[in-house]
Amino acid sequence: MFTQQQLKEHVAQAAVEHILPLLAADSVLGVGTGSTVDLFIDALAPHRERFRAACSSSERSTQRLQQHGFQVLDLNTVETMPVYVDGADEIDGRLNMLKGGGGALTREKIVASVAERFVCIADESKLVDVLGKFPLPVEVIPMAAASVSRRLAALGGKPARREGFVTDNGGWILDVSGLAITAPAELESTINDIPGVVTCGLFALSGADAALLSTQQGIRTLA
Ligand code: 5RP
Repeated sequence: MFTQQQLKEHVAQAAVEHILPLLAADSVLGVGTGSTVDLFIDALAPHRERFRAACSSSERSTQRLQQHGFQVLDLNTVETMPVYVDGADEIDGRLNMLKGGGGALTREKIVASVAERFVCIADESKLVDVLGKFPLPVEVIPMAAASVSRRLAALGGKPARREGFVTDNGGWILDVSGLAITAPAELESTINDIPGVVTCGLFALSGADAALLSTQQGIRTLA
């Protein structure tokens, strides 16, 4: 029986094998954030000469990439990326994701938007029928935390500020429990339209193109 840590290591290695054929010598790779991505960065390190550079979704991933000797580019200097690799807190069978457990959702959505493909990497425990058991992270401008919380409560959620946490953008995170997310794309638009919301952790308007899920029996691919 593999531990969750071993399952993450397996999918990190599988992701390296999956993305290397998509990269050319001048390619920039989009890199997400989280414990699974940390392992992906580690597994990628021996192959850093195979592509030009990375573009990262957090200070955490940037630091790890640089420690391994990768060049990390500012997104403003990058026009396109063949692939973006990131984890998820939940993913459904239609490749809609709920993300932001690590608080990097906004930069993740921005970097992913510049990539041609989003490859989600996770252990199988993240696969769900309906998103929303994991509290939905919403990044807000600090002065709007109370007004956004009232609007989220009106949508049926129970927002709680992630105490002591400030995002890489200077925002706050509201973790919203109690939402039954049966229409993820519609809810993503509704929440993103609330004044003061930077973005919410639903990735449904633009979900993953493929998911590599680590199971006790091996890697399962959803596409
Ligand atoms: C960070 C994220 C992560 O991708 C998500 O939280 C999954 O992390 P982990 O690989 O540690 O389970 O969205 O903002």
